[in-house]
Amino acid sequence: MSLTLSPFKNFGAAAAGIDIRRPLSAGDVEEIVAAMDEHAVLVFRHGAPLNDDEQINFGRALGPVQHLKMLKMLGGGKTLLDRSELIDVGNLDENGDIVGADDRRRHFHDGNLLWHSDVTFDDNRAVYSILSARVIPPDGGDTGFADMRLAYDALSADKQSEIEDLVAEHSIWYSRKLGGFTDISEEEMATRSASHHALVHANPRTHRKALYLASHASHIIGWPESMGRALLDALTEHATQDEFTYTHKWQAGDVVMWDNLATMHRATEFDSLTQIRDMRRVTTLEREMTV
Ligand code: OGA
Ligand code: MN
Repeated sequence: MSLTLSPFKNFGAAAAGIDIRRPLSAGDVEEIVAAMDEHAVLVFRHGAPLNDDEQINFGRALGPVQHLKMLKMLGGGKTLLDRSELIDVGNLDENGDIVGADDRRRHFHDGNLLWHSDVTFDDNRAVYSILSARVIPPDGGDTGFADMRLAYDALSADKQSEIEDLVAEHSIWYSRKLGGFTDISEEEMATRSASHHALVHANPRTHRKALYLASHASHIIGWPESMGRALLDALTEHATQDEFTYTHKWQAGDVVMWDNLATMHRATEFDSLTQIRDMRRVTTLEREMTV
């Protein structure tokens, strides 16, 4: 079987024809990478959700996978998911109950409501995020995506040359504070330092340029802070206009995969105090992680 794609309006496509629960052949991987290079977001719609092993194996076939300990730290050593390759972006505690109104994990996740790409605060950048919907709420909890290539292309030539060589600083703590998560210990701070990335970069295979910014981006290196902030805010507003975005309305079982180097995304509100949203993510990185 080979991949069949049904493109959405601006970017992104529904993908079928490859069973992502089964080991991928080299040809499957090549087709998926090519489809990601073109569409930047792929939606695999399944009746039944992937299990943890299937999701991790799918990620591993596509690149080195991120291991994360952050959520364990925030949960005081307790997590719903025991595999460090799986990132919990849902609202359940270690017992499978909805996290309380004051739970730090809830407030940490609130940062996902801001437009971002994953892991831009690390030197080793995230490539693909693979998000699996295990349980979804009856209303809300959609995920928005913005195509940073379309956004780049739509800038004036003057603006493109103005920003060509700029570098932004990214920090997880910057975006968490922005999202209202302010109670951060020194020990937690020390686990993640900031990182610097070019604001404009090109896909190594297609050479297509894209903006690379996120809620984690705090300022522009070498620029007065307020000036850098104003530029980052203006670019974010530009990039997230309707014509560059796609909103995914989840069905349980969906697997949505996005290229963090070509898109931003954000969570949206739902009744998270009474409804369950169990979403699990596997993330591939540019390089193998050094632990
Ligand atoms: C993520 C993320 C948004 C959502 O998984 O990285 O930001 O809607 N998710 O859950
Ligand atoms: Mn995210």
